[in-house]
Amino acid sequence: MPETTVDGTIVDTVTEVPVAVVGAGPAGLMLAHLLGRAGVESAVLDLRTRAEIETTHRAGILEADVARDLVETGVGDRILREGQEHTGTELRVGGRPYRIDFRELVGASVWLYPQTEVFKDLADARERDGGTAHFGVRDTEVLDVGTDAPRVRFTAADGTRHELRARYQVAWFGVMAQAPSSAEELVYAQSDRGFALISRRTETVQRMYFQCAPDERVEDWPEERIWATLQERVAGEDGFRLTEGPVLERTVLRFRSFVQEPMRWGSLLLAGDAAHTVPPTGARGLNLALHDVKVLAGVLTRALGREGEPALDAYQPAALRRVWRAQHFSSWMTRLLHTPPGATPFELRRQLGELDCVVGTRAGRAYLAEQYTGWPSADR
Ligand code: DHB
Repeated sequence: MPETTVDGTIVDTVTEVPVAVVGAGPAGLMLAHLLGRAGVESAVLDLRTRAEIETTHRAGILEADVARDLVETGVGDRILREGQEHTGTELRVGGRPYRIDFRELVGASVWLYPQTEVFKDLADARERDGGTAHFGVRDTEVLDVGTDAPRVRFTAADGTRHELRARYQVAWFGVMAQAPSSAEELVYAQSDRGFALISRRTETVQRMYFQCAPDERVEDWPEERIWATLQERVAGEDGFRLTEGPVLERTVLRFRSFVQEPMRWGSLLLAGDAAHTVPPTGARGLNLALHDVKVLAGVLTRALGREGEPALDAYQPAALRRVWRAQHFSSWMTRLLHTPPGATPFELRRQLGELDCVVGTRAGRAYLAEQYTGWPSADR
């Protein structure tokens, strides 16, 4: 369905992706390949078609280190089979040959392997690994690069218009305040000024968070500004107000999401933050870590008993299902409640529609309740 972007332009699709790479020659594709190996998604574009790049002949010599990098990252098998290692070269001066012996002189060699083939190997790897590469695009525009919401717009080979947008970055400004509590239970507040969460520690110490930019500096937030921000984000027709008091501590918490798979390498077993991290919304982190170690304690006990090491095989399958559920729930709850910087009016309205589905239906509320309170343990 066509979408309207922040500047009012209509495009066929808007895709969120953390890295857009303009130029799908060997360097652009290698960047996408290396990012992919590190678990970072990207989209690569090029004005030229794949056939044009494949038939543009360029130099065919690779430094040994470059060849090794390609081999070691899984895109150099053909270099080893079809390339040739050269340990020297000939300079002809006035009809006389002079051999420059790389190996003897500097202990190095180079590989003769055409750049067009490097390109093919990398383009094939993108396809194999499910990466995104658009060839033959037109009208590429790189927009808003000085902001935290850069975009790339282009016309694909089939004439459709697309926009790539950096995945929105949010962080939380965390506050510990000396004040009586303002609510009996936790309050997760969505507002058009951004998200806020009212939690508590004790009768007299309150824990609160509000959505902020990841590069926010705590020095820029005196007490009055913190309270004003929290108050306007929780304000509503019921007249709800937070009881204010001295701010004891301020921290900016940047969001990160990752899962380390496999969670086991031989007799090394990863659990908790060593294996995964989720955005804080929904408070899954510690709960998930404790589920990991409960499963782990079970398999370790069995492994050290009669079953032996094969018992360890059960760890990852039992732990991982919950890890991905929590990964999903935390990101869902984050998107549900935060205001994405640079969001279009359409997106903000859609978000309100989604919130209405959650708070306005029993099934929606039950879905949130079920995820928030935790799933049955894998070993039960
Ligand atoms: C708290 C933190 C969270 O991320 C959350 O979802 C609920 C509570 C807290 O610090 O109390």
